[in-house]
Amino acid sequence: MRKKRIAILTGGGDCPGINSVIRAVVKKAILEHGMTVIGIEDGFEGLILDKYKTLSYEDVSGILTLGGTILGTSNRANPYKYSVTKSGKTELKDLSKSVIRNIKKLNVDCLICVGGDGTLGIANRFFNDGVPVIGVPKTIDNDIKGTDISFGFDSAVQIATEGIDRVHTTAQSHHRVMIIEVMGRRAGWIALYSGVASGGDIILIPEIPYDISIVAKKVKERNKKGKRFSIVVIAEGARPQGGDVIVQRMGKDSSAPVRLGGIGFVLGEELEKITDLETRTVVMGHLQRGGAPTPFDRILGSQLGTHTIDLIHNEEFGNMIGVKGNNFTKVSLELVAKGTRLVPSNHMLIKSARSLGTSFGDSV
Ligand code: F6P
Repeated sequence: MRKKRIAILTGGGDCPGINSVIRAVVKKAILEHGMTVIGIEDGFEGLILDKYKTLSYEDVSGILTLGGTILGTSNRANPYKYSVTKSGKTELKDLSKSVIRNIKKLNVDCLICVGGDGTLGIANRFFNDGVPVIGVPKTIDNDIKGTDISFGFDSAVQIATEGIDRVHTTAQSHHRVMIIEVMGRRAGWIALYSGVASGGDIILIPEIPYDISIVAKKVKERNKKGKRFSIVVIAEGARPQGGDVIVQRMGKDSSAPVRLGGIGFVLGEELEKITDLETRTVVMGHLQRGGAPTPFDRILGSQLGTHTIDLIHNEEFGNMIGVKGNNFTKVSLELVAKGTRLVPSNHMLIKSARSLGTSFGDSV
């Protein structure tokens, strides 16, 4: 039987644990099936600009603990809406047909797309256009439909928690309200988990728009009780009731250009005005995406990688490998592409946090 040739790309924002997936895919493909693995560079951009290399067993040896992705990534390279600038004019072009031709030239039996909602949505479109594709869920935001968890999330929670712990001690010393802004555009998973892990007094997530007067009341009540500091953990995508998110910048050359950030500063100024207490804001930003993955993410990435090869071996294309409870399971990319996995307002961790006196800035 002809040995399969497969290709792998990593798209969208990077996160800790990607290299564990690449390593597992390449090692299992070579060791168990004698497959050839081609690494596409810089996400879908590599398929537009023909940037790729064959990955040997040695190429992936020693990368398990490394942050980032050895293949490079891009979140500006959606082949269906690729930004092209000609004579100073920028327009979005559909280059999908030329990408499909390039994939055919590579003569591969499957394209593995490791990415978040954007990358997996594009993967689904390519599958519908006839490319055999398998998806692997990657994002610190943990907001991919069809899986209980994505790798990168655990590392981001660990980093955010450590940051909040450090801010905690200086909040106590200076009797300040410290606001820590973490990532999470539409879903507040990182804020919820790191907020609970670090004993945050107030946790503000996109799914529960907050009432500034309730946030201020909580801070003042703590002060009255002699707790002269407060810790507020806020997701970048959080917004006040009746208000909107804060856009930090519009990315260049991107089909999804909105970059959020700055809600922590807005909240700080408003709280200071209402409570007359000094506030400081810290934005965790890309620190949450950098450095070595936690052991959990190394293990999860390794398992997702090996299960990916099983799906390819069985030719179960058009699926993502996901986690349901304690099992790995295939999920159709069609379902994955359907939207964002938000934090349900009755999530058990929200309930527990409320029982501990944590405020979510709402009147419940
Ligand atoms: O999706 C992951 C994420 O880290 C978001 O939480 C954040 O809003 C975004 O990526 C930032 O993207 P960039 O690296 O382009 O600034």
